[in-house]
Amino acid sequence: MDVTTTIQKRRSIRKYKNKEIPKDLLMQILEMARLAPSGANRQPWQLVVVTDAEKKKALVPICKEQKFVGECSAFIAGIDDPTQKWARVDVAIAMEHIALAAADKGLGTCWIGAFDQEKLQAALGVPVGKAVTVGMVLGYPDEAPEARTRKPMSELVRWESYA
Ligand SMILES: Cc1cc2nc3c(=O)[nH]c(=O)nc-3n(C[C@H](O)[C@H](O)[C@H](O)COP(=O)(O)O)c2cc1C
Repeated sequence: MDVTTTIQKRRSIRKYKNKEIPKDLLMQILEMARLAPSGANRQPWQLVVVTDAEKKKALVPICKEQKFVGECSAFIAGIDDPTQKWARVDVAIAMEHIALAAADKGLGTCWIGAFDQEKLQAALGVPVGKAVTVGMVLGYPDEAPEARTRKPMSELVRWESYA
C-alpha cells in the first residue's frame, strides 16, 4: 500500500482476533518507529512492548476497563523523558509510525490515552523521572469500522495567518 492509501484505510480497532503477531513482523513495525524523526534527533523515548497474556489482562483496569487492551496481541507504551522539550511530540510521531506501519501490514491499532499514569508506570516498571506518554494496542482486526468523520478542511486550515 502507498502511504496515502494506508492513511485512508487506517481505523482505530477495538476488537481483535486471539492471535500472536510473529516476532519478525512485530520487529519490522517497531523498526518504523525507530526511523521516526525527533527534535534535534534526540530520540528521547523508549517503547515497552507487552505481549504476555496475563500482563495484558492486568492492564485492563489500569486503562479504564477498556476490555480490548486485554484482547490485543501487543500493548505498546510510549515512554518519554519530560525534561526533553519535544519528548511528547517525538513519542507521538513514533507511535503514529507504528499505527501506519501496522495498517500497511493488515494489522489494527488503537491509541490508548485513557489510563492511570501512576499505575501504568508501576505495572510496566517505568522509573521515576520518566512518563508514559500514551499507549497503543496492536493486533489482527476482528472488525472493520467505517471511517469516523473529520472536520472540513475549512475549519482546520487557515492560509497565511490565523486571522
Ligand atoms: C492521543 C489519543 C488517545 C486516544 N485514546 C483512546 C483510548 O483510550 N481509547 C480508545 O478507544 N480510543 C482512543 N483513541 C482513538 C480515537 O478515539 C480515534 O482515533 C478517533 O475517534 C478517530 O477514529 P479513527 O482512529 O478510527 O480514525 C485515542 C486517540 C488518540 C490520538
